[in-house]
Amino acid sequence: MGEERRPTMAAATLAARTYLDGARNNRPLSSPIVRGTIYTASSAEEHACLYQGGAKTFYQRFGHPSEEQLAEKVAVLESAESALVFASGMAAISTALLAHLPPGSHVIAGEQIFAQTDEILRWLESGRGVDVTFVDTRDLRGIASALRPNTRLIYLETPCNPTLRVSDIAAVSILARERGVMVFVDSTFATPMGQKPLGLGASLVLHSATKLLGGHMDVMGGVVAGATDVLKPIGEMKRLLGGVLDPQASWLLLRGIKTLAVRSERVFASARALAELLQRSPLVESLYYPLLPTHPDFEVASRQMSGGGGVISFSLKGGPAQARRLLNSLRLIQIASSLGGVETVIELPYDLDWYGKDPHPAGAVNTGLIRLSVGLEDIRDLSADLSQALECVGSNISESQLHGNSTYLNRPS
Ligand SMILES: Cc1ncc(COP(=O)(O)O)c(C=O)c1O
Repeated sequence: MGEERRPTMAAATLAARTYLDGARNNRPLSSPIVRGTIYTASSAEEHACLYQGGAKTFYQRFGHPSEEQLAEKVAVLESAESALVFASGMAAISTALLAHLPPGSHVIAGEQIFAQTDEILRWLESGRGVDVTFVDTRDLRGIASALRPNTRLIYLETPCNPTLRVSDIAAVSILARERGVMVFVDSTFATPMGQKPLGLGASLVLHSATKLLGGHMDVMGGVVAGATDVLKPIGEMKRLLGGVLDPQASWLLLRGIKTLAVRSERVFASARALAELLQRSPLVESLYYPLLPTHPDFEVASRQMSGGGGVISFSLKGGPAQARRLLNSLRLIQIASSLGGVETVIELPYDLDWYGKDPHPAGAVNTGLIRLSVGLEDIRDLSADLSQALECVGSNISESQLHGNSTYLNRPS
């Protein structure tokens, strides 16, 4: 990697540049993919040395060049000492939690986090000797009173999926540091272009790279970035659990990240415009986009986020029936899960990750909540599609539903 990599370049430049050892790789501008799972040694002694020294180019589960380049790219973007990459966001999250939560330890986690992160924490809690306290991580006093002598880490997801609550990373990190507790932040919804948790004091930042980092809905991956001493046990656990990212997938992620800055800029701007459109609609019951002044956590969000992300959550008057009608009336925006791709997609979270969890952990993902992940289509087409779908809803909603109290809502607060 060149000398120029860390100091003063803008995130867009850092994301676009491919870092290669040019001489070793015959100077290709795009990174080559090394598919080999094993590497040769010139002698038995060198073979032993490579293994005993923890060489990355020994066996693919221990590391490979494409993965290394991707890790370095993420470390640079997150201003981290180092990074590790994984086969999925969940591989990253579960490996990091297992590495840092031995039996007898305690973790404080957000009561509203990605459903499967919630599940892995509950799995650790149920008979595996880890104590978990779920709190509203926007409430510092709640976190402070949940701290125990054996608390090892505080797990934040901000903005969180799907209700877009925003926790104050800097304030939580100060509180945690005083007590020698680590702070892990799932920053998937913000991307490194929208928020820098390590700069705010977090110990580790995690991403589902499947989302905006990859950006094309054709590759899965996960990353964690932080200080080398925090990463070391995670790397050791990864070697055992084996959630390694394939070279081809690493390459696709590297390619996706090259355009992350320009995609994020467009997506964040379009998301904001669509949030404003929704805000103007009398049909909208509740609306969450972190950088809208009406968002309950706007003050914190505007302090810690340089971009609001590409996801909007909202609910409609008339409840789940009208939410379904909206989805079924869309022509351009497609019904699909996940987020951060080129195409705009929409879903009803309650029917998916939260289905059958009754009552679900935080009681705030209401049955009518709609999650919109904004893509790269022209904003005029997206606005037109959303507007015509809202009109379809409007023409079917009764006066009493429009003006009365919506009782179906268990509103995110
Ligand atoms: C906030 C957040 N974290 C983690 C994950 C898990 O990532 P993956 O699906 O890549 O395993 C997701 C997936 O939707 C997510 O939204």
